[in-house]
Amino acid sequence: MLNSLGFPNQGAQVIRKRLMRLQKDYCLGINIGPNKSTTPENMHKDYLNCYEKLSEFADFITINISSPNTPDLRKLHNEEFVIKIIDEITKSRDESKFKPKIFIKISPDESEKEYIDIISAVNKSKIDGLIVSNTSNNKKLKSILNVANKDGGISGKAIKEKSNKILKFVKSKLDKKKIIVAVGGVFDVDSYYEKLDLGADLVQMYTGFIYEGPNLIKRIVKNDNQKSSNS
Ligand SMILES: Cc1cc2nc3c(=O)[nH]c(=O)nc-3n(C[C@H](O)[C@H](O)[C@H](O)COP(=O)(O)O)c2cc1C
Repeated sequence: MLNSLGFPNQGAQVIRKRLMRLQKDYCLGINIGPNKSTTPENMHKDYLNCYEKLSEFADFITINISSPNTPDLRKLHNEEFVIKIIDEITKSRDESKFKPKIFIKISPDESEKEYIDIISAVNKSKIDGLIVSNTSNNKKLKSILNVANKDGGISGKAIKEKSNKILKFVKSKLDKKKIIVAVGGVFDVDSYYEKLDLGADLVQMYTGFIYEGPNLIKRIVKNDNQKSSNS
């Protein structure tokens, strides 16, 4: 699937009001990012603003530095920015009574150096882990799929191998106490187990859910139950 949505929403203040009315008894993750019009040097302020308005409602917060649809966002895959954003957001969590888990969600298209720098910053920090990965903007992959001239990121089956490769790398370098959430190309029971085998603690899916429907989750959970009762 190719999507070029960006973050179409009414903004943190409106969403905060909506969340205040929500009675929830389930786990809620909130994914935060800057406005399209914000310049790179001011993006950290947008993340902090979203965190401060929304963190009290979340079980986990995702710092999204990896959407290909917000200009310059992926340039935030650098040590200096990651250390800065982690410092600001963990400071805000330390000062608050609300303690959501905090993750950074990364792109599958970066160079090894960027991954090493980010992992090392996360290892030294108080944030809880990484989400691996967002959609791919890789030119070669897009041309194979005949969408080379279109904006947006590829998701689903087409990014499974790419996303799994980064997951394996992250697993080999990330501190064992940190949590790895894997996402990218889960569309059946086997691709879910592949993520666990590569070291994921938790698994998310998006495109698989669109094509297969909510029944896919039932199938995965059922298989999971059968596996654990057999072992
Ligand atoms: C329509 C669509 C919208 C998305 N919006 C976001 C978003 O707002 N924030 C984000 O971090 N990832 C977003 N993603 C990326 C997914 O969360 C996921 O990381 C990616 O699609 C790979 O997983 P999948 O193969 O299971 O779809 C979006 C994906 C799709 C298809």
